[in-house]
Amino acid sequence: MKKMRIMRLLVMLSILVIILSACSGNNANGDEKSSEKGGDVYTFKVSHVTQESHVWHQTALKFGEELEKLSDGRMKLEIYPASQLGLEKDMAQQLETGSLDFGFLTNAYMSTRQDSLNAWFMPFTFKNLEEAVKMRESEAAKQMLEDLNSQGLVGLDFIFAGNRHILMKNGHVSSPQDLKGKKIRIIGSPAIQEFWEKVGAGPTAMPLSEVYTSLQTGVIDGIDIDLDALVTEKYYENAENLTLTNHITFPSVIVMSQKTYGKLTTEDQEIVKKALKAAADWGVQEAIQRENKNLEELKKHGVKVKELTDTSAFDSIAKEVKDKYAEKSPVIKKFLEEAKQ
Ligand code: BEZ
Repeated sequence: MKKMRIMRLLVMLSILVIILSACSGNNANGDEKSSEKGGDVYTFKVSHVTQESHVWHQTALKFGEELEKLSDGRMKLEIYPASQLGLEKDMAQQLETGSLDFGFLTNAYMSTRQDSLNAWFMPFTFKNLEEAVKMRESEAAKQMLEDLNSQGLVGLDFIFAGNRHILMKNGHVSSPQDLKGKKIRIIGSPAIQEFWEKVGAGPTAMPLSEVYTSLQTGVIDGIDIDLDALVTEKYYENAENLTLTNHITFPSVIVMSQKTYGKLTTEDQEIVKKALKAAADWGVQEAIQRENKNLEELKKHGVKVKELTDTSAFDSIAKEVKDKYAEKSPVIKKFLEEAKQ
């Protein structure tokens, strides 16, 4: 009799375990389950620093759609925009521990952790965004992604916010002389800082969230910015002189936590890579289209636009920066050689 009761209890417990595991929320951090179609079910987390209207967020949405489609619904993506999970240094830490699965990190932040990523910030390497986007396929760019392995990350791809230009409260820019002693907001990155110092300006690193007020109050004279951020954040309300310089490009490096990647089957790793590639291909084309749309939008808002067609006044500064970084990093040397081809 006692044996029977124990048996019944065991059967009931087994049923309960099966029901509970079928109902549990599944994520990429351990509690996955098998779907009827075969394979584990995942809800991945991705985070980035931009607003929802930004092309990086739109690319993340596309990535989510592709993941669901290619995995027959087994893989889903939760997106945390606008630094909801913390600053980029926090995100990098979360990626290392595996509590975050994907990051669309600014190349600027990542260039403080990996020298070779400064390649994208070699001054006046690209005339327009199309030229920068082509370098995504370069051997040097692939090497940069591979080198991220040493940081507990799987480097997947680059997407772009656009090329960077200069917005000033007073006057346009035709030579370094126009920038001497001016306080210019930059995003922190070794090569960007170096360029602006050599120009003779006062580069001031600050987060996007502080830029609007700093321009308004005159704490800074101008900003180094891409057109998408300029439109989204409405900086033109406080400074109206835009010089289209294309002096650098502005990528995001898309990374995955090695911890998460290691938990996936080879087939699921392929699904992730395929979905990401499709999203990034879409994202770079969208960024190119937005470059023109954003410019039209800015003109509608009364921004005075001037194109810097002759960049020769910056040649010696650009060469100094490039020579220094090419000597420091063979990957940057290769990148600059490939960019010339
Ligand atoms: C910036 O800080 O300048 C920035 C960051 C992310 C996207 C675009 C711009």
